[in-house]
Amino acid sequence: MSCNKKALAALIGSIFVVSATQAMAGASAKAMADTCAGCHGTNGQSVGPATPNLAGMSEGYFIESMQGFKALPKGATHAEDARPATIMNRIAKGYSDEQIEAMGAYFASLPVYKAKVPHDPAKAKTGAEIYDKGCAKCHDEGGALPDDDAGILAGQWLPWMEFSMADFKSGHREMPKSMKKQVNKLSDAELAAVLHYFASQQ
Ligand code: HEC
Ligand code: HEC
Repeated sequence: MSCNKKALAALIGSIFVVSATQAMAGASAKAMADTCAGCHGTNGQSVGPATPNLAGMSEGYFIESMQGFKALPKGATHAEDARPATIMNRIAKGYSDEQIEAMGAYFASLPVYKAKVPHDPAKAKTGAEIYDKGCAKCHDEGGALPDDDAGILAGQWLPWMEFSMADFKSGHREMPKSMKKQVNKLSDAELAAVLHYFASQQ
């Protein structure tokens, strides 16, 4: 009997330890994520204009982005599999793989945030057709589907998307091959229009 009690106590103890560790990991992920709020807004809801919303992005895309930022050697402007940026290379280097995973799970647990982004409705209308033909396959639901692992573009800040696209087009940031094929078909005006379409998604 006393033996069983001991076993039970041990079992309860271990359940407590597991859930306490999980709770702590959760709390520390939120605490870490809160340090990003100065730029990315409270709960990953950026007030723009050039800092992206993080709320609701997939864990996969978040981790890939952070690891890409981290991979750029200090002082370098380009490196294989690295993602060049203005600020994030320095910031990402401050976090371990585990911390990045924990923050990724945290941001992925938040609902996708679509900001009220100023945009041109006429351009957004033109952009909708371009989107259907060239972008919807990988940026489904108007760019709001986290499972695409391609970032959140719906209600995403326009200047940020314009910077991203300029970085892709210049080759500074590596563009996925099949995306490049679509992007290369478009004129500058068409490309601008489709970004207005993403910005208009609510
Ligand atoms: C000083 C402002 C600043 C802080 C603090 C900051 N960021 Fe950023 N973040 C940016 C900017 C600006 C960009 C755009 C890339 C660049 O130019 O660095 C960005 C881009 C990103 C992206 C890419 C998003 C996408 O859609 O591709 C991720 C992910 C990210 N930040 C995560 C974080 C996390 C996590 C933290 C906190 C640990 C953080 N950032 C703190 C300014 C900041
Ligand atoms: C074959 C799939 C595919 C197609 C087609 C595609 N994309 Fe992408 N897109 C991606 C992936 C994957 C990423 C993330 C790339 C990365 O971080 O390396 C991305 C990233 C982006 C980003 C940057 C997001 C960020 O937060 O930095 C923008 C902007 C974008 N795509 C716009 C477009 C537009 C506009 C089109 C249509 C003309 C398009 N994409 C077509 C797969 C695609």
